[in-house]
Amino acid sequence: MTTLEVTFLVVSNGPKNNKRKTRSQANPLDYPSMNHQLSIPVSNSKPMPAIGLGYWKVDPAEAAKLTVEALKTGYRHLDCASDYGNESSVGYGIAESLAQGVCNPEDLWDTSKLWNTFHRPEHVKSALLRSLSDLRVDYLDLYLIHFPISLKHVPIETRYPAGWFFDPSALSPRMVPDAVPIRETWQAMEELVDAGLVRSIGVSNFGTSLIRDLLTQCRIRPSVLQVESHPYLVQPKLLRYCREESIATTAFSPLGAPSYIPIGMATESDSVLNHSLILSLATKYNKTQAQIVLRWGVQRGTAIVPKTSTLNRLGENLDLASFELTSQEMESINSLDKNQRFNDPGAFCEKAFGCFFPIYE
Ligand SMILES: NC(=O)c1ccc[n+]([C@@H]2O[C@H](COP(=O)([O-])OP(=O)(O)OC[C@H]3O[C@@H](n4cnc5c(N)ncnc54)[C@H](OP(=O)(O)O)[C@@H]3O)[C@@H](O)[C@H]2O)c1
Repeated sequence: MTTLEVTFLVVSNGPKNNKRKTRSQANPLDYPSMNHQLSIPVSNSKPMPAIGLGYWKVDPAEAAKLTVEALKTGYRHLDCASDYGNESSVGYGIAESLAQGVCNPEDLWDTSKLWNTFHRPEHVKSALLRSLSDLRVDYLDLYLIHFPISLKHVPIETRYPAGWFFDPSALSPRMVPDAVPIRETWQAMEELVDAGLVRSIGVSNFGTSLIRDLLTQCRIRPSVLQVESHPYLVQPKLLRYCREESIATTAFSPLGAPSYIPIGMATESDSVLNHSLILSLATKYNKTQAQIVLRWGVQRGTAIVPKTSTLNRLGENLDLASFELTSQEMESINSLDKNQRFNDPGAFCEKAFGCFFPIYE
């Protein structure tokens, strides 16, 4: 894999001093590492800050404060989704931060995701408008189709976010698929770009075949693919395919197992953070194991969106520009790959929502 085409976004603490420098102009050692954000190019868009804050499982009661703290720490990329049930709190945090002059609105990169119950073209715009209103922004930088899974529509007034069950109060609640061609959903996503409501559109949890097919039919190409990726799920072919198609990639669950341990979908022994290679590199660079794994993520050219609700981890997860792994170390981490996926609808949908729904096989 090629090394990231790095640019440094020099992030100021106030709205006046923001400057963007190319690598040749910027010396990373000139600035405290926290003020550095690596960024990756996105077709037909401004660059995407390579480190974003993930919001899945962030308690809505904490999301506003977390957002203010994250933006003060230097985060500029927020990875949201209607399904996370906390966008209105995130929006409060964004508005509060902008009012305090923590950052310029145009330096933010806001991502949200179209939930599975809104795939019918007539529902796409109303889903987006609800996310914009909750996030208190006029447009998104990126809107992703969350999963290649269409579920029977649940009106916003009935339940929001709808989650996976069609009717959670039914005697035997289950998810109910709705056969909507991806092309139809995508055309409605393209219209959001035409209307200036989103700057770029992309997909999540798609494989190469679905993307290839989408590319034959789209008017506006997907700019970004967001997929699970960490040292136990390296995904070299998928990432190479995207690179060759000029589609940027964002790795979700970049730390691997830790997100899934509290919800019973992984155990401590599944965590790459405890691997001896990661431990030894953490000692060598005087960094935490998480920083080694996250640095590997950005250094191979993916954006990463680590989630933390722990305020003192915000800085740790952003502080990745002050060291560089050697190419041999990058290769050693690549070789930990076990193709181990923690977030697999083909497994959890049947267990949790009564519907066998594989998407990767
Ligand atoms: N597109 C999709 O389908 C999809 C699916 C899953 C996730 N995502 C996105 O990707 C984001 C990240 O994925 P994720 O939340 O699954 O997993 P993750 O970011 O890899 O890991 C989060 C877990 O790691 C812990 N953690 C964070 N920083 C740490 C550190 N420095 N040291 C040790 N532990 C640390 C967190 O605990 P604390 O919070 O207690 O610090 C949390 O339990 C999500 O929040 C979401 O935005 C997208």
